[in-house]
Amino acid sequence: SKREAKGLKKGRWVIASVFLAAVLVLTACGGGQKSGSESDGNVLRVGTDAAYPPFEKQEGSGEITGFDIEVIQAIAEAEGLEVRVQHTGWDGLFEAVDSGKVDAGISAITITVERKKKYDFSEPYFEAKQLILVPKDSDVSTLEDLKGKKIGVQSGTTGEIVVQKAFGKTYEGIRGYDDTPGAIDDLVIGRVDAVVADNGVVLDYMKKLPEGKFKTIEDNSFEPESYGIMVKKGNKEVLDKINSGLKKIQEDGTFDKIYEKYFGQES
Ligand code: ARG
Repeated sequence: SKREAKGLKKGRWVIASVFLAAVLVLTACGGGQKSGSESDGNVLRVGTDAAYPPFEKQEGSGEITGFDIEVIQAIAEAEGLEVRVQHTGWDGLFEAVDSGKVDAGISAITITVERKKKYDFSEPYFEAKQLILVPKDSDVSTLEDLKGKKIGVQSGTTGEIVVQKAFGKTYEGIRGYDDTPGAIDDLVIGRVDAVVADNGVVLDYMKKLPEGKFKTIEDNSFEPESYGIMVKKGNKEVLDKINSGLKKIQEDGTFDKIYEKYFGQES
């Protein structure tokens, strides 16, 4: 009937209006929230491979801590930013910066010519060198002596690069690990004869490994490295803030305090 048809029409209008209102409310609420890959001007999303003590570490699912973390927190604070640090792993860190999942990476990252093709780096904030870690009774005293031996490195790091440079990219003794603690663990149980990694990390492990069981070796071929905070190439906005914050904390003594806490001479 006509009345039924009219009622039906009215019903449709009610449903349509309710639907429209719901859509409006949802967009209004959702509008304030940023999706994972968008950046929010006041939040600095930072990725790290939190398995590189004392620069970055995480016990279980606990807080990520370390020298780098305190540095980036201080930088953010100096710039009035809120910092959110997440563990991405090492390979994952480069991917996360690429995809915009994070705004920056801090992870004892050496500034290299190769990396500079794809990323921009802050001013250098830390000097490092490679260091070889071997059992105390090892006959190794130079990098060259590692020829024919099994060498553990973290894949995609400058530690791997120096070994590849010395023995060739396809050297069969090279053992690549996803993280450096994995390589150290295998050294401890004798699955590799040496580990090559950044001096700060190797020296930190020396304090934790059984006393007198390991020694470190420098090699003349190891070149000085500088760590930088990494952003996607062209992300000037974030890089400028990071450099500005870094300068501030270097000038006001905050950086030195953090440095002292992690690398100062123990009394
Ligand atoms: N400095 C070395 C590099 O850039 C090793 C850094 C590894 N960092 C880490 N958090 N796992 O290749």
